[in-house]
Amino acid sequence: MPFARISHVAHYVPEQIVTNTDLAAMMDTSDEWIASRTGIRERRISQNQQTSDLATEVAKQLLTRSGLEAQDLDFILVATITPDSMMPSTAARVQANIGASKAFAFDITAACSGFIFALSTAEKLIASGIYKHGLVIGAEVLSKVVDWQDRRTAVLFGDGAGGVLLEASPERQFLLESLHTDGARGEALKSSYQGLASPFSVEQESHLSLEMDGRAVFDFAIRDVVASLKEVLGRSDLAPDEVDYFLLHQANNRMLDKMARKLSVDRKKLPANMMRYGNTSAASIPILLSECIEEGTITIGSGQRLVLAGFGGGLTWGVLLLTI
Ligand code: ACO
Repeated sequence: MPFARISHVAHYVPEQIVTNTDLAAMMDTSDEWIASRTGIRERRISQNQQTSDLATEVAKQLLTRSGLEAQDLDFILVATITPDSMMPSTAARVQANIGASKAFAFDITAACSGFIFALSTAEKLIASGIYKHGLVIGAEVLSKVVDWQDRRTAVLFGDGAGGVLLEASPERQFLLESLHTDGARGEALKSSYQGLASPFSVEQESHLSLEMDGRAVFDFAIRDVVASLKEVLGRSDLAPDEVDYFLLHQANNRMLDKMARKLSVDRKKLPANMMRYGNTSAASIPILLSECIEEGTITIGSGQRLVLAGFGGGLTWGVLLLTI
């Protein structure tokens, strides 16, 4: 049986930068409030691009960097909670855009854990021995689902995409994982559901824009996600400081401070870029990985140990331990 390895990483963000000060001109907020509570200073906002457009840019970069043809791809997974449409899927649109006619493609909906769940799924597809090359992309245009009248959520999110090319390999790169869902607590985060009128239903539930119980989600991340991180480290027999980097979902810098303290690791091992992009949900971890590779802190083929962890709507959370 082959193993799977990440061979290339790429990201793409829309050009338009919206700063906290820009937002303060639109709603009752301030750079001081947003930056001190979350670390976020600015975010990218798409004007005319949909999620599939951002994901397609990532897919094209991955093909160019790898030298593969679109025809060489066996599958494309896109993790997103802001699909262009439910059908066709965003992944199917990317498949068409790049002409990957031999690839099957589907979306994964697991909010800010989406990239982790998709990467775990893709690793199993490659390890089956049936497929050799696949794209795993996290892409979001959250600016289209937040309520721009609601300062409690509008200031937190941004648009972007990132992804990896996964290939069959004789060497094991994915070491351990821990994936979770607690649907019973799902009401803490919800978005974009509109019931259409039907002659067979009486009441239609609708909540179109994103709603979040920020405090509940913060507490969940500190308690449940840290517990899963510790559990994976325990199973690995690695001390936390034997991990080179923890690439955690980029929701809140204060949250990362607290997680580092609870894990007893140097905060420098938890890189952050939410100051520039806000919370990009499924895109946040691959954008961060791609930037770390671009700036040289992480090198593919170096054998560095990485922990990746996503957490958010569902509730969902997932931890992967790998060497890169
Ligand atoms: N500007 C100014 N004031 C604000 C703003 C704003 N943008 N937003 C809220 N406030 C006010 C509130 O109205 C409240 O005022 P009040 O005390 O007069 O009622 C006060 O600030 C405090 O509000 P809280 O919501 O209690 O603020 P808190 O300290 O909890 O911070 C935050 C909010 C940043 C959202 C934090 O709870 C958080 O980061 N939670 C986690 C979010 C997260 O991790 N999400 C990940 C998953 S997302 C996904 O899956 C799609």
